Amino acid sequence: MGKARIVRPDFGGAFPAHIAVIMDGNGRWAERRGMQRILGHREGIASVREITTECARMGVESLTLYAFSAENWKRPTLEVRTLMQLLRLFLVKERATLMENDVRLSAIGRLEELPKAALAELRRTEEQTRANQGMRLRLALSYGSRSEVADALKKVIEDARAGRLDAADVDEETLRRYLYDPATPDPDLVIRTAGEMRLSNFLLWQASYSELYVSSVCWPEFRKAELHEALRAYASRKRKFGGLDQDGRDADARARRSRRGA
Ligand code: FPP
Repeated sequence: MGKARIVRPDFGGAFPAHIAVIMDGNGRWAERRGMQRILGHREGIASVREITTECARMGVESLTLYAFSAENWKRPTLEVRTLMQLLRLFLVKERATLMENDVRLSAIGRLEELPKAALAELRRTEEQTRANQGMRLRLALSYGSRSEVADALKKVIEDARAGRLDAADVDEETLRRYLYDPATPDPDLVIRTAGEMRLSNFLLWQASYSELYVSSVCWPEFRKAELHEALRAYASRKRKFGGLDQDGRDADARARRSRRGA
């Protein structure tokens, strides 16, 4: 472990501190090639490795990957079982790469629902990478935004009943503290691959003001060049968080001046 050297191309504007990715299209990628869907997931791991390494190299602070949604349990047993095996293998095999790149791994979601063997490897990888100072890689596993909010609400009610919290004091910041990982700032950029224009129950609270970028490319083909394209698009965006950017303020001032006849 050591401080990795940050090498960041100039994308011509702002650079996101936190990127979150909906890795979609593994199945389609495989089916289009007459292959079993699971081979798409396997190839998807190569993209996970390349994107994680590239983000770490460019100095992204946090990368959140939607690896298994709360709804994915509804898939055929064999696909779920293979995905869990792939997760376990990923956690074992990628430890060295995570250490090399100074990446700290963690996870969000209803982790207690994961098979014991996968959960054990997750805990081992979290433990081994805990002291790493570089990028934070968060895997969203058995994750759903609605269950995250429901889980938070349950804890809020428990604390209110126990007198640790006054219901009158509950505001947005209070609720945020009860989410799975309140210390990680909201994503600046949410990328979705394979063309679908939806958030699919991913970080609904945290992505309120995130910039969205949809790539038509399926996840197994989403590599360094496609990531750079997303970053160029992000650099050209104007983030306003519901307020006005400088252009908006200038336009208002111009309108006021013209109303006054100036
Ligand atoms: C969506 O593709 C992807 C998933 C449900 C799982 C994502 C998993 C990986 C990339 C591999 C495992 C990841 C880690 C971190 C170990 P899809 O199957 O919904 O594709 P489709 O919409 O084309 O059917």
